[in-house]
Amino acid sequence: MSKKIFIKTFGCQMNVYDSARMQAALKMQGYDETNTPDNADIILLNTCHIREKAADKLYSEVGRLNAIKQKRAEDGKSTLIIVAGCVVQAEGSELLSRMHGVDIAVGPQNYHLLPELVAKYDRKKGRILVADFPADSKFDYLPKHDAKGPTAFVAIQEGCDKFCSYCVVPYTRGCEYSRSVREIMDEARHLVETGAKEIMLLGQNVNCWHGEGLNGGEADFGDLVRAVASIDGLERLRYTTSYPSKMNDSLIRTHGEIDNLMPYVHLPVQAGSNAVLKAMNRQYTAEEYLDIVRRFREVRPDIAISSDFIVGFPGETDEDFEATMRLVEQVGYASSFSFKYSARPGTPASLMKNQVPESVKSERLTRLQELLLSQQKAFNVGTVGKQLPVLLAEKGRKKGQLLGYTPYLQPTHVDVDESLFGQIVNVKITGATASSLTGELK
Ligand code: SAH
Ligand code: SF4
Ligand code: F3S
Repeated sequence: MSKKIFIKTFGCQMNVYDSARMQAALKMQGYDETNTPDNADIILLNTCHIREKAADKLYSEVGRLNAIKQKRAEDGKSTLIIVAGCVVQAEGSELLSRMHGVDIAVGPQNYHLLPELVAKYDRKKGRILVADFPADSKFDYLPKHDAKGPTAFVAIQEGCDKFCSYCVVPYTRGCEYSRSVREIMDEARHLVETGAKEIMLLGQNVNCWHGEGLNGGEADFGDLVRAVASIDGLERLRYTTSYPSKMNDSLIRTHGEIDNLMPYVHLPVQAGSNAVLKAMNRQYTAEEYLDIVRRFREVRPDIAISSDFIVGFPGETDEDFEATMRLVEQVGYASSFSFKYSARPGTPASLMKNQVPESVKSERLTRLQELLLSQQKAFNVGTVGKQLPVLLAEKGRKKGQLLGYTPYLQPTHVDVDESLFGQIVNVKITGATASSLTGELK
């Protein structure tokens, strides 16, 4: 009987990508993926540290999985619990002392060591914590991974050097590092060859990517986008996340020039008040942000813009918050993520004196989300009656239905034969809510 691994992933797309790479590495040792922890020889949790709630989730999850581990032990089966991801980097030793069931804890830059750690693991010798920032890149050692469906992720960067004052990522992921264009192209080509129709380029600030071009010389993110977009058989290209002030004209222009580059850009603004942006160490003003949005719309008028927001950053006044509301009114977002500020250990903002009370944060978040949701609904309703190409990428809610995505990344329920899974089909949009569309095959 084959050995089984159960993987649960928290956090951002980077973690989803890393989980796929770890799965590919452990598959080479004979571990097949299972969708339940009950029959798993390895349980792997890939964790997130971005907000307090995210980290708390891990602790309750480990408790639950420990019970499964014990039950399996009673049946004479052993289970290895591995914790990976950003919580390990931030508080690995605390995690091991609080969570006795965890056998191996491995930080984001050490995933290439996993096969060896698993093979050599000896319970009697004690549990293992690996949370260094090694000189070698994990990408040099991890095996190739195949596309698991019609959309695939490719990390083009690791880490972050921006040090926004609220954020743990520079500490959990280390400094910013760009992968080489050759590595990225090889990986993207392999994913297309194994079935991907759409590729999402991933990084904390993808537009800061830089490297040597395929023909020598300096290349920037716009060059990389053009190179990846030209891969034969690649129908759709997306990227996330980009840092507003690092948008250059060449990249913006690309959106008006390349057909398979999707008309969607995630451009996190965080706040609309310049005083708050400064305290956050975001290196742009609200006016500069609005100008970037204007330039995108100049070359691609239908582009969908999305963003992340933080409300209740230390020192945020009512007036500051109103500035965020005004900016949202001015931009008109197609989708968004918004959060209450969460003080994270070790970050400069967590030490700021003027923390905002929880009740004020909640009130502001409710107001902001109402506005954002109404914009999202308006955007969705605006596509009703149109004919749009939809990539059928997921199972539907019921039989005879699939879930797909428009170029603007709107989830779309389509009544179609399930054999069309993975195809891009023309869909007439017939209905819209704030969260999704419905449509029929044309
Ligand atoms: N590199 C990306 C963001 C990665 S984290 C960027 O700069 O846009 C994803 C989102 O989590 C951030 O955009 C921010 O909105 C939110 N976030 C990060 N730290 C947070 C904190 N301490 N409290 C609340 N939200 C936070
Ligand atoms: Fe965090 Fe800022 Fe880096 Fe984004 S750019 S990951 S918010 S430090
Ligand atoms: Fe979370 Fe780490 Fe991503 S902290 S958001 S999993 S980079």
